[in-house]
Amino acid sequence: MVKVGFVGWRGMVGSVLRQRMLEENDFQGLKPLFFSTSQVGQKGPEIGMEVPELADAFDIKTLSSLDAIVTCQGGDYTKEVYPKLRKEGWDGYWIDAASALRMEKDSVIVLDPVNREVIDEAFESGVKNYIGANCTVSLMLMGIGGLFKENKVDWLTSMTYQSASGAGSKNMAELVEQMQTISKATEGKKMPVLELDREVQETIENPDFPTENFTVPLACNLIPWIDKEVEDGQSREEWKGSAETNKILNSKQQIPVDGICVRVPAMRCHSQAITIKLKEEMELKEIENTIAKANEWVKVIPNNKEDSIRQLTPIAVSGKLTVPVGRIRHINNDASFVTLFTVGDQLLWGAAEPVRRMLQIVLKKIS
Ligand code: HSE
Repeated sequence: MVKVGFVGWRGMVGSVLRQRMLEENDFQGLKPLFFSTSQVGQKGPEIGMEVPELADAFDIKTLSSLDAIVTCQGGDYTKEVYPKLRKEGWDGYWIDAASALRMEKDSVIVLDPVNREVIDEAFESGVKNYIGANCTVSLMLMGIGGLFKENKVDWLTSMTYQSASGAGSKNMAELVEQMQTISKATEGKKMPVLELDREVQETIENPDFPTENFTVPLACNLIPWIDKEVEDGQSREEWKGSAETNKILNSKQQIPVDGICVRVPAMRCHSQAITIKLKEEMELKEIENTIAKANEWVKVIPNNKEDSIRQLTPIAVSGKLTVPVGRIRHINNDASFVTLFTVGDQLLWGAAEPVRRMLQIVLKKIS
């Protein structure tokens, strides 16, 4: 039986991964070993079968005995452990949710409903590193992958509305704490709305307002910068949009992808408003069909108010694998430009699901 190690299974993405694996019965047919960086020797998680006690996530010898390692532990862990493993001659499959190895030549970024052919070719040629993409990129490609597949995209801009979960579990908790602080400060107060507004503003501006993780308020606010600064006024999150999209698609010619990435006070679903310059004019029906037939999770939402406000929102999508795409229309009656809006669960298709599916692909190929 194939021996698979799991590192970082207790964190937010790791927990969603474990949950999805249980739902899909994925633990059957493999021999799991769970690792820990802090609780070595303790009991492993409940997965409906006997599992050995937790192994040491820094124990290169034990890690080297595995056929595949799945890690959601984060980039620092990858940077520390992965080179040591390869140096020791380990040639198993490394499946990673972190970004550390994404752009390496010997890694493939995985999103199999979009780039299964790229994955299969890489597998044939002996690639052993399969890395999950940036969440915004995965969710954009799950939504409009059909237009890329049919080579319709000349360039695009994606203006994002990214949830707190993308910044991490502590940030999600901080967003709720910020909302609670505002709620406590205004609870039961009946006052004219402009006074209420001032009360909210003063609460948020109070130095005691909880901003340890985001560094600035997110509740009643937005943050128009995600991740570090790179070059030319771009954030790293914006840079990834182009770099990772083109790597996932294995583009012969780079397709320009750019935009502004913004954090908004949604909990776990990222949204994006996308404008696409098409290579040729397309009727709206053709655009909708091309989008809808690309995979079984994308769902075209009719461009009307009722469907949009009910089905095309973070709250509608939270915890679901469905990726709705709506507000589809030409700009300015020009059939070579289309604008649309899409939403996806940042922890599912944005993080855990591509990694879960990649493990299944590896297992099928090597079992
Ligand atoms: N970098 C993303 C964000 C999440 O901050 O929303 C991880 O892909």
